[in-house]
Amino acid sequence: MTQTTSALKSNPTDTQSAATTETRDEKLANLDAEYASYLDNHPDMPSRWLLAQTLLTARERRMMLDMIQFQPGWRVLDAGSGFGQIPLEIAASVPIRAVGVDTDPGNLRVAARVAERLGGTRHLCDGASVELTQASIYDLPIPSNTFDLVICRFVYQHLGDPQCATTELYRVLREGGQLLVMDIDDQFSITYPQNSNALTQLQSAFARLQADNGGDRFVGRKLSGYLAEAGFQIAATMLWPQSAHTSAQDGSASRLFELERLSGARDEIVSRGIMGAHDFDHYVNEYASEDPTGQFSCNAQVIALGRKPALDAGSMKR
Ligand SMILES: C[S@@+](CC[C@H](N)C(=O)[O-])C[C@H]1O[C@@H](n2cnc3c(N)ncnc32)[C@H](O)[C@@H]1O
Repeated sequence: MTQTTSALKSNPTDTQSAATTETRDEKLANLDAEYASYLDNHPDMPSRWLLAQTLLTARERRMMLDMIQFQPGWRVLDAGSGFGQIPLEIAASVPIRAVGVDTDPGNLRVAARVAERLGGTRHLCDGASVELTQASIYDLPIPSNTFDLVICRFVYQHLGDPQCATTELYRVLREGGQLLVMDIDDQFSITYPQNSNALTQLQSAFARLQADNGGDRFVGRKLSGYLAEAGFQIAATMLWPQSAHTSAQDGSASRLFELERLSGARDEIVSRGIMGAHDFDHYVNEYASEDPTGQFSCNAQVIALGRKPALDAGSMKR
C-alpha cells in the first residue's frame, strides 16, 4: 500500500503567530472556506458528494465533538478520518496530538491540501499537531497502548469485520483510554412528505450494494455489542437525533449531491444484478425531474462509548 503521510505541528514559541490571534470560530470558518473552495475547484473529484455532506453537517459534527472533554496533551486517533475534518477541528482549539488514518489516498490528499492552504501550523492551537496517514483500521501501524481517545465516525457501516476492527482499536488505546464510535441505523429515519418511490428504490439499491460489499446500514444498534465483545467497559450509549425542515430550494441543492452519490454507484449496482440498467436510469430521471417541495426529515445516529479497563480493575473489585 502507498503510504501517504502529512504532518502539521504548531510552534509554541511563536507567540506572534496567527494561531494565537485567530479565535476558534475564525479558525473553523477558515477551515470550512477551504473545504468549500476545494469543492468548487474540483468538480470532477471522486466522492464529491461526501465532501459536500461533510460541509453541510459541520454544525452537528462540532456539537458532537463539543461533548468530549479533550485534555491538553491527549493523543487522539481518528480512525477512518476521511477528509481530515475531525483532527483539524479538534486541533484548532485544544493542544492535542491528533492522528488520522484512512485507506483512501484521495481523501487523505484533500485533507493534506486543505491543511496546507490553511497555512499549516497557523490553523492549529499552540502545542497541537495533526498527522494523517494511509492505513487500515484492521492493521494500524501504531504501537499498542498509544492513544487516550479513539474516534471512529461513520466508518463501521462500511466494515466487513467490525469486531476485528474493534479489537485493533482496543489494542492502540492506553488502559483507561476511550473509544467513541458513532454510526447510522437506517431504521431511525422519518421523512414527511415521504420520499418518492424513485428515491426509495435507488436508496434501497445503494443500501444493498453496501451490504454486498460487507457494509451494514443498520450497524448503529450493534456498536455497543462489538465494544463489549472486544473487552471494553461500556461507559455510555446514546442516540443523537437530528431533524430538519428542508426548503424546496435547499432540497434541490441536496438532490444534486444525492444524485451524484447514487449515480456514482450505478455501474456496480447494475453489474451485481441489484437493479437493471433500465430501471436504474428510469428512477434517476424520475427523481431528477421531481418538483421540489419542502420536507421534514428526522433521523438518529447511535454513539457507543467504551473504556479500556485498567489491567488491575479486576483485582481492585475483589
Ligand atoms: C463516511 S466517511 C467518514 C469520514 C469521517 N470519519 C467523518 O466522520 O466525516 C468513511 C471513511 O472511512 C474510510 N474507511 C473505510 N474503510 C476503512 C478501513 N478499513 N480503514 C480505514 N478507513 C476506512 C473511508 O475511506 C472513508 O474515508
